[in-house]
Amino acid sequence: MTNSLVTVAYIAASALFILSLAALSNQETARKGNIYGIVGMLIAIAATTFGKSLNEYGVLAAVVLPGVLIGASVAARVAMTSMPELVAILHSFVGAAAVLVGIANYLEPDQSLIGVEATIHSVEIFVGVFIGAITFTGSIIAFGKLRGIIGSKALLLPARHLINLGIVGACVWLGFQFLGATGYSGLQPLLIVTALASVLGINLVMAIGGADMPVVISMLNSYSGWAAAAAGFMLSNDLLIITGALVGSSGAILSYIMCKAMNRSFLSVILGGFGAEAGATATSASAEPAGDVTSTTIEETVKIMREAKSVIIVPGYGMAVAQAQHSLSEVIKILRDLGVHVRFGIHPVAGRLPGHMNVLLAEANVPYDIVLEMDEINEDFPTTDAVLVIGANDIVNPSALDDPGSPIAGMPVLEVWKSSTAVVMKRSMSSGYAGVDNPLFYKDNTRMLFGDAKKNLDAILSQLR
Ligand code: TAP
Repeated sequence: MTNSLVTVAYIAASALFILSLAALSNQETARKGNIYGIVGMLIAIAATTFGKSLNEYGVLAAVVLPGVLIGASVAARVAMTSMPELVAILHSFVGAAAVLVGIANYLEPDQSLIGVEATIHSVEIFVGVFIGAITFTGSIIAFGKLRGIIGSKALLLPARHLINLGIVGACVWLGFQFLGATGYSGLQPLLIVTALASVLGINLVMAIGGADMPVVISMLNSYSGWAAAAAGFMLSNDLLIITGALVGSSGAILSYIMCKAMNRSFLSVILGGFGAEAGATATSASAEPAGDVTSTTIEETVKIMREAKSVIIVPGYGMAVAQAQHSLSEVIKILRDLGVHVRFGIHPVAGRLPGHMNVLLAEANVPYDIVLEMDEINEDFPTTDAVLVIGANDIVNPSALDDPGSPIAGMPVLEVWKSSTAVVMKRSMSSGYAGVDNPLFYKDNTRMLFGDAKKNLDAILSQLR
């Protein structure tokens, strides 16, 4: 393949990646977006493989083929609810790759670079290794937190901001040592920076916990993009630079949107929970609500739904675990045929990955026009007869609004308790992801329908039929 053909292929792949991102932002065009992304990636791999700079096909095959097989088998088997863990661990690979590319580049420098060009290349190596190491360890901690290996609570070390600032300061100083080094003597500061940045990655992500984890995932997504872009600079690969910048900036925009949706400061999350002390550490007296719980039955739930003029359904992580979306879709079809005004209220962080609920509902053929975002529906609860909360907990927790000491204080929630009756479907009284008790369960107008969401929805369906 000639160099100009490779350039054309890279431009085509970049255009397809941009089209892919644009299409992925809308449910109706998301499938098309995936296809654009896949075609773009195939073009990119073909152009890289058959480009002039590569001739070690044996090595390439030995590395790529096992990767393809492992990746395909993991992706085929992963449950939807485990996707964030997979994404987190994949981000760590990007970080590790950036570190390794940086060190390899340093050990085998491009002899044609001299003067300012050589200095710029050294800066690229340094920045790539720094961001890569933060992304690597930060993503491993995020993986551990999402998988439950590490506690989901924020670990707020007393002097963590000072420690982090100290680490950044030391890395800047080491950066100057690295740039001023001759021969291979820069390897030592580079390796120390790798170690320090790794500690920084751990510190930053350990300090974020509970309900703020979605922001960490998108933030690490962004970091992995910048790490890839840095690797692109080191390898003089334009496509990697463009792709990395696309991932980096879209991840940063998603983090910003999520912070806004959760009423968190963007800067504070990026800096590892800066200023989050009050909400995250305090345990207030009202953390454990007292009172009686009113449980209900399938029969009563069916009666409430049939008699209601308007119903809002609030799905959460439990619906995904139970895989209850198809039964739910049948239930709402019957209710709509009976003349009930049924809509869905979707919280921005419901489930375990952005858009989790939208994907499940689309899979079950729930019409898009009755699936509304939190901001679009929150004011309608006082005029709603019945709410069905299916496997959701943190996203309907009133203590986010009432209890300034709660770890989820300030996070906007779906105000389901303002409706005439709220039926909450879950298996027990246990807490949600953030680990906080939920006063909603003790309210007079709340009915608890205990049990697996799928089994209960199937029972509701057969009663309705
Ligand atoms: P959660 O607060 O995690 O609550 C889910 C509830 O579902 C649990 O309390 C559980 O109660 C119930 N459940 C589990 N399996 C069930 C089953 N088979 N049938 C019925 N119920 C079942 O979920 P949420 O309200 O969707 O809130 C999401 C939380 O995850 C937020 O704190 C959010 O910040 C965090 N998070 C979100 C993301 C993204 S990007 N969306 C990523 C990471 C973390 P029982 O055990 O009693 O059944």
